Amino acid sequence: MRIIDIYSIKGGVGKTASSVNLAGELAALGKRVLLADLDPLGASILGLTPAKLRAAKPQPAEPGSLAKSVVLSPVPNLSTLFLGSIAAERPPEESALDSLASEFKELAGQYDVTVLDSPPAGGPWVRWGMRVSHSVAAIVQSEPLAFRILPKLLDQIREARGENITPYVEGLLLTMVGSSNDLTSRIAAYAQKRYPKAVFRTTIPRDPVIPEANYSGLIASAQNEASPASVAYREWAREVIDRWARTDKLVLGSQDA
Ligand SMILES: Nc1ncnc2c1ncn2[C@@H]1O[C@H](COP(=O)(O)OP(=O)(O)OP(=O)(O)O)[C@@H](O)[C@H]1O
Ligand SMILES: [Mg+2]
Repeated sequence: MRIIDIYSIKGGVGKTASSVNLAGELAALGKRVLLADLDPLGASILGLTPAKLRAAKPQPAEPGSLAKSVVLSPVPNLSTLFLGSIAAERPPEESALDSLASEFKELAGQYDVTVLDSPPAGGPWVRWGMRVSHSVAAIVQSEPLAFRILPKLLDQIREARGENITPYVEGLLLTMVGSSNDLTSRIAAYAQKRYPKAVFRTTIPRDPVIPEANYSGLIASAQNEASPASVAYREWAREVIDRWARTDKLVLGSQDA
């Protein structure tokens, strides 16, 4: 059992696209997957709902009966849980966060992998997501400012997890990479050279299949399996699984950034 938190400080960098497609590709590889959505709008759950059916809101999760709040998605092996509904409704109290964490971890125990789609920018729910997870995969848009925020991101992870939990970082996923030798692809190449252990080999290209798949309520592979972002998300899912077997887990500090 594994809980992986998908996070970035910055908004709009591809967290939701990466959560949905990682969850979908892991499910396609035969893993039993739970996609838990911490976004108040349920962005990743809506991403698995065709646009014409989105008037019906995702089923809100109820603390105390989380297992009953799980919804089977149209993707085989993939279920969803709308945790953002709780986050949107009530200001969190420490005791409520703790009991939700225990219940959530127990539920996650019924799956091979739980992917947690976080909202951006920090806050109590983002910290909660980091604490309940085994590791955080940081989504980094390939653009000139990307690495300025990296030390802050690593500090946030360490702070959220406190003294008792090792601040594992699954890796850094570079997104929105251009197809030619433009600035974004040069930045991605630099990042892989500079942080060879931390940055995933796979990078995610900027590709219209992502918004198209979102509109259709599909993962990218189901929209067009040959498109560059579909191929990349399939490769990334395999790379994520390979990293789990690694014994030298990444523990990054801001000195590494
Ligand atoms: N690889 C990509 N190629 C093209 N468009 C993309 C790609 N990844 C994401 N997008 C688009 O960029 C926008 C932001 O993506 P997404 O919602 O996944 O980001 P996010 O980090 O989850 O945002 P938020 O911080 O609001 O939760 C969406 O319109 C999405 O369709
Ligand atoms: Mg999002």
